[in-house]
Parts: sequence; structure tokens; C-alpha cells
Amino acid sequence: MKLACIGDIHGFWDAADTAYFNASRYDGLLLVGDLPRMTGGLREARALSALTKPAWMIPGNHDGCSVVQLMAEIRNWRVPAALTSRRMARRVGALARAMAPVDLAGYALDRLNENTALIRARPHAMGPNRFYYAAYMRRAHAVRDFRQSAQRLKKLVDAAPERIVFMGHNGPAGLGSEPTDPWGCDFSPAFGDFGDPDLAEAIDHATRQGKQVLAVIAGHMHHRHKRGGAERVHAVRQQGMLFVNAASVPRIRQDGARRHHVALTLGDHEAHAADTWVNAEGRIVETQTLGN
Ligand SMILES: [Fe+2]
Ligand SMILES: [Fe+2]
Repeated sequence: MKLACIGDIHGFWDAADTAYFNASRYDGLLLVGDLPRMTGGLREARALSALTKPAWMIPGNHDGCSVVQLMAEIRNWRVPAALTSRRMARRVGALARAMAPVDLAGYALDRLNENTALIRARPHAMGPNRFYYAAYMRRAHAVRDFRQSAQRLKKLVDAAPERIVFMGHNGPAGLGSEPTDPWGCDFSPAFGDFGDPDLAEAIDHATRQGKQVLAVIAGHMHHRHKRGGAERVHAVRQQGMLFVNAASVPRIRQDGARRHHVALTLGDHEAHAADTWVNAEGRIVETQTLGN
């Protein structure tokens, strides 16, 4: 089975992308969230709705929020964050309707094939230092903190068949604290490992249950460093699991001549992935094997 993983879109998706994936040999697409440049995303959602392959998306921290709400979350302004969260369910619903048949969800278990599940982790993930979007998460998902979120994810693991692919917006904790690690914090290196503890706990639970985690796909911590320096490691393989950060931002470069996705191949016992750059005519111009 071959899947195309699309990192944080942030406004960079056009008709050439849709045409490429519709004509491709991929069995489906995984979209890790963050549709708009900042907020909104309806234009990008409508463009995605023309995809004819099965496609699953998890909301990112830029999906379904307003500018004021995003600012309130970042600055930890609690009252404005709570007030602006009231319309979030409506905005997420509008995005979901605009992108259908692309499926938008968090905390979801889907079958990729008979033996393999796709588990989508906590939606709107933004980092482990606070439980972001708390009022919305409580109302829309009945989840109040990382502990409850981990419990929710473990139930999905228990209901899954023997093989699992996890998809999050942010990646799991435990993969390193340097800014060059897949989910190490680059905007404030003092935060160190910026992966999410609930996702890490769910992955650990899956392996303890004897389930095979083939791959964990996420984004959020963009590949391009704002302050220059060494490039982030895009993928690592640990204990047979392939962890991929797909967030090459912007994913369209050089006036459309280079468009990024990650080609993910699922075998019976392991996954393989490659950073893949395609031109506007749909020809692959560069591939780089990840996490070997
Ligand atoms: Fe992003
Ligand atoms: Fe993000």
C-alpha cells in the first residue's frame, strides 16, 4: 500500500497538486493539518475536495480558529481564548464540509486495509507546554488534559487491528530535544523536546499490546528554520517504527516548479518513506529516502 503524506499546507496547494495526486498510483493521502497561511482555510479545503483518492486529514493548530483566538492561545490570554473558542466547532464544521469527501477528524480510527488501522491523534495539537484550545477540546471532545487525551487514544489502539499507522498534527515526545530533531523546538530551544506526551503514550501502549506500529506521520514543527542553522532531521526509525515529520514549508517552491510530499510505502512488517519533489507537470524531480 502506498500513501502520499502532505505536510503543513499553509496556503500552498493548487489545481496541479490535485491533478497530480488524482492521476497518481497512491492508494490514498494523509494530510497532517494547517491548511491556511494563518487562519481560514476554506479556499484550500474546497481545492482538496476535488481529490478522487481516499484522503484523511487531522486538524492542525491553524485549522478552525480565528486570528484573535490563535493569538490568545499563543500568548495564554485565558479569557479571550475561552471567548473566541465558542465559534470553533462551527468553523471546524465548515472546513469539514468544504473539504468533503476528504475526511477531517481527530481521535479517529479508520481501516487502511484488513489488518492496518489509521489512528488520528488529538486534533489542533500545538505543543506540550500547555493544553492548548482547552475550552474547545473540553466541549467538542470531552478531553480536559493530556492524561485524558492519552486515555482516549489508548481506547482507539485497543480497538485497532494488529498493524497501526498513527497520524498527528504534532509528533510524539521522546525523539530528541535539539532544534534539529524531528520535533525538537526551534523557536525557543529552551523548550527542548516539543513532541506531545499523549501521542507518545498511545504509541507505547500499542507496542505493549503487541501491535505493530508501522509509522507515525506528523508535521507542525516546520523543516525550515527561521534563524538559519542546520536542517531538521525529517525522519527517524526506532524499534522498527518509522517517525516522519512531513512539514516542508512552504511545500510549493520556485513558482510551482517544486512541490513536496512524502511517499509512504507500507509493507507487512515495516514502512518506507521518501521526501518527494514533483514539478508542475507532475514529474518527480527529486526523491530522498528517509529514516533508513
Ligand atoms: Fe504549521
Ligand atoms: Fe502547526
